[in-house]
Amino acid sequence: MIKVCLIPGDGVGNEVIPAAAEVLAALGLRIEFTEAHAGFEYFKQSGDAIPDATLAAVEDCGVALFGATSSPSTKVQGYRSPILALRKAFDLYANLRPVQSLPGKFSRPNLDLLIVRENTEGLYAGRERLDGDTAIAERVITRQGSTRIAKMAFEQARKRNQHSVTVVHKANVLKVTDGLFRECALEVAKDYPEITMKEMLVDAMAMRLVRDPENFDVLVTTNLFGDILSDEASALIGGLGVAPSANIGEKVAVFEPVHGSAPDIAGQGVANPIGAILSAALLLDHIGQGAQADRVRQAVNETVKQSVLTKDLGGTATTRDVTRCIVSNL
Ligand code: NAI
Ligand code: MG
Repeated sequence: MIKVCLIPGDGVGNEVIPAAAEVLAALGLRIEFTEAHAGFEYFKQSGDAIPDATLAAVEDCGVALFGATSSPSTKVQGYRSPILALRKAFDLYANLRPVQSLPGKFSRPNLDLLIVRENTEGLYAGRERLDGDTAIAERVITRQGSTRIAKMAFEQARKRNQHSVTVVHKANVLKVTDGLFRECALEVAKDYPEITMKEMLVDAMAMRLVRDPENFDVLVTTNLFGDILSDEASALIGGLGVAPSANIGEKVAVFEPVHGSAPDIAGQGVANPIGAILSAALLLDHIGQGAQADRVRQAVNETVKQSVLTKDLGGTATTRDVTRCIVSNL
């Protein structure tokens, strides 16, 4: 029995996570779903953004599908971001963001990229302070953190039969921090002689992602650079509505569409479920159901070819129409 924890969260999370669960349920595997709470709406009712019961359910299942949650733009006493809480609680150190072409006019062709972003340290380590009129953020890079993310990148390249891993850094300026990150990646690369290690400065990489993204396979980088480059890359294949991601730790993994709660379209039934459904495919890959994951990706591709598309991709289909079409293409 496969156990999957579902955390729809806020806004369109409540539309796209049921869609992804419907696709998983249609595969004919034995799957038991456990639904769990998190988010700003739940916080307003209960005073807790992510209750211990949710953390326990995620731990029990080992894998979770997370929708999105809303974060208020001003500080609200007692509120913590549920996805950051999950990353922290389970040390979800690797954020994987595949960028694969879809067979529609809105997508660039011939792309099969994977961005591997370090998810726990770097400039997002949370060490910020004010010293008089000077604001300081510490950029924390550790040997352990850099080595394990580099290993993840090379392992993914091996699994996906890809030729190269590009280490993206700014070691020419950030000589100590990115110097260490680069050094760890070079060391790990020695264990993967069949894979070419390339390196690229982050500013040049941002340009190359627009100019010739098809020339790259796996990219590995630090937290902030990975955050920015992966949003940039999602635009190559149709934008936030279709971009999936995985947060991987030693024991637990959480899969989520890259988009947020989309309050501007929430409740209208028009959210694109593809990002969530491709996140479910990543979940299947992770639990050793790669063939089923490929079935889901093929059904998504068929649906795009049939032009059953939501508004963000230029169509008029609803979330339900797209989901039904994907299920029937399975
Ligand atoms: P967003 O991703 O929610 O929306 C950006 C734009 O993309 C909007 O125009 C939206 O309509 C569109 N969009 C997003 N998902 C879509 C989908 N599935 N189908 C079609 N169109 C889609 O980002 P935004 O507006 O910056 O943030 C809204 C809220 O979401 C905020 O409270 C923010 O904190 C939260 N957020 C949560 C994330 C998470 O839980 N991991 C990630 C990003 C934002
Ligand atoms: Mg982001």
